[in-house]
Amino acid sequence: MKPLRKAVFPVAGLGTRNLPATKSVPKEMLPVVDRPLIQYAVDEALAAGIEQLIFVTGRGKGSMEDYFDISYELEATMRERGKSLDSLKGTRLEAGQIAYVRQQEPLGLGHAVWCARHLVGDEPFAVLLVDELLWNPVNPSISQLAETYREKGGNVISVLEVPADHTHRYGIVDPGLSTGELTEVRGFVEKPKPGTAPSRLAAIGRYVLQPEVMTVLDKGERGAGGEIQLTDALAQLIGSQPFHARTYRGARYDCGDKAGFVQANLALALERQDIGAEVREFARELLG
Ligand code: G1P
Repeated sequence: MKPLRKAVFPVAGLGTRNLPATKSVPKEMLPVVDRPLIQYAVDEALAAGIEQLIFVTGRGKGSMEDYFDISYELEATMRERGKSLDSLKGTRLEAGQIAYVRQQEPLGLGHAVWCARHLVGDEPFAVLLVDELLWNPVNPSISQLAETYREKGGNVISVLEVPADHTHRYGIVDPGLSTGELTEVRGFVEKPKPGTAPSRLAAIGRYVLQPEVMTVLDKGERGAGGEIQLTDALAQLIGSQPFHARTYRGARYDCGDKAGFVQANLALALERQDIGAEVREFARELLG
């Protein structure tokens, strides 16, 4: 079994759900407390032992590349003023650790992942959807999937049960045998029409995948919404590779949703040593 060393971050999306902020700021750069969303996803991958990060970007995403670069001017000024550089921790990765490829056209998540095929090569790889902030500092989502991958091999995805009237927003699993947190995936449907979902188990933006999915994506077949869907490509591999869904344990904030984004900020602010007490006091007063 090949070790999991690579992660793909599809970050080319226009972020229309977060407009107007995302008119000139990539949605991945929206801060939750003081760190942009992309930093949470990168930290999650690194915590799972992933070494190579592949960003699938697009036009207008340059600030993300700058963010993970050295800012000589900023650092020099901070040093001159005797300020600690601790706040920049995590923004400086090893040289060459991030590679960027572009998705020139928004043809869907499957297409975005396929744009990384030459960098992924013939190794397993993780996929992290950055607007899903999965917060479990003890055992992050990708670490949970990596563990299952080492046990079972094949493709593994994070899932959560969603309300029946939300299933049309997600990739939904047709479940086979279930043992504890693990469910065999018998089928996988992208955004099923209301009332047709095979279950309420929804993919929540974390995947550990086998490189064979790229061969399926080569065909460029269109699915839900006329897009090239990762879900459809994975469904085609059922039967030829093991495929498991692991129920995620931890907090989840859908930051592509305005309410989810505010909730992430509030929840993570309350956990902070430096500002938690002040925010808690304010929230108490505000709510009476
Ligand atoms: C994507 C995937 C979907 C998954 C969802 C999780 O959809 O296609 O299968 O359930 O992310 O957030 P999107 O939200 O990009 O439409």
